[in-house]
Amino acid sequence: MLNGIWLGCQRVKARTAVIPAAGLGTRFLPVTKAVPKELLPIIDMPALQLVMDEAVEVGVDHIVLVSNVNKPGIEAYVRPAADVVQRVRASGRIELADRLARIGTDVRVSVVYQDAPLGLGHAVGCARDVVADEPFVVLLPDELMGDSHLLQSLVDAVDSTGVGAVGLMRVARDEVSSYGVITPADGAPHDGPFRIVDVVEKPKMEDAPSNLIIIGRYVLTPDVFDKIARLSPHANGELQLTDALRAQSAESPLAGLLNKSARYDTGTPMGWLTAVIDIALNRPDTSNALQAWLRGRVEF
Ligand code: UTP
Repeated sequence: MLNGIWLGCQRVKARTAVIPAAGLGTRFLPVTKAVPKELLPIIDMPALQLVMDEAVEVGVDHIVLVSNVNKPGIEAYVRPAADVVQRVRASGRIELADRLARIGTDVRVSVVYQDAPLGLGHAVGCARDVVADEPFVVLLPDELMGDSHLLQSLVDAVDSTGVGAVGLMRVARDEVSSYGVITPADGAPHDGPFRIVDVVEKPKMEDAPSNLIIIGRYVLTPDVFDKIARLSPHANGELQLTDALRAQSAESPLAGLLNKSARYDTGTPMGWLTAVIDIALNRPDTSNALQAWLRGRVEF
């Protein structure tokens, strides 16, 4: 459906990823008073690291973190720390030392600042000067994916069609009002791919055009920055990325691909808790011990 549509800018695979991490994290207060939710541990890894690894897996070689001066931990995490690596290496934990040595060095990382939390659209716009005039990836670090399949499919789709592509998920009708919801073009197969003809942010259930919501993985074309620059704030004062996508989809095709892997929303305490448990159940070094403990703890 989208094959062969190419809209002009130089055809390059997306290699830059923007990770917006400047939000207030109010749903995770009081912990986010001091700890950015993007650094919450998923066993022993910050959520941010898992998302950065996902980007690197699909060929990203430059990560742009959008942070806020009140969240210094984000920058501290990606800053190489030779002294820590050396201390751990000297203690004989070579594998851990190697892992630590790769943080912030296995991929180029830039940090840009969003002065005020004016919304996701505004946060992505803050990366404009650092993103070259080519397609780029956006990953929301409070959404974790079971693997990098969706992101790889989005990168490949944009490479072959030249139009932006976003990750989608089907939800129950009574959940749509928390998300950006798409209108798919008529005639798409149930499992997509979809051509998106409109997007609406947080519609009432009765007004929602579908139950297909946009999730936190995007590969966008650089013309979206002009749409972001022209955004008007919503009632809550925020500039929504969804509105920029809506403007884009009115002018040029936008694709949507269904996620077929696990997805975790770690932006709330319950979402984070289920993510940690599920990921620990799948990780070889934690799975057996956790299952044994759960069997003793939970009555089935
Ligand atoms: P969220 O809306 O989930 O994050 O944005 P939030 O606003 O921090 O959370 P709540 O609603 O107050 O609990 C998704 C991602 O976009 C970033 C967030 O840091 C998060 O990683 N974001 C959001 C920004 O970088 N800037 C913003 O103005 C808003």
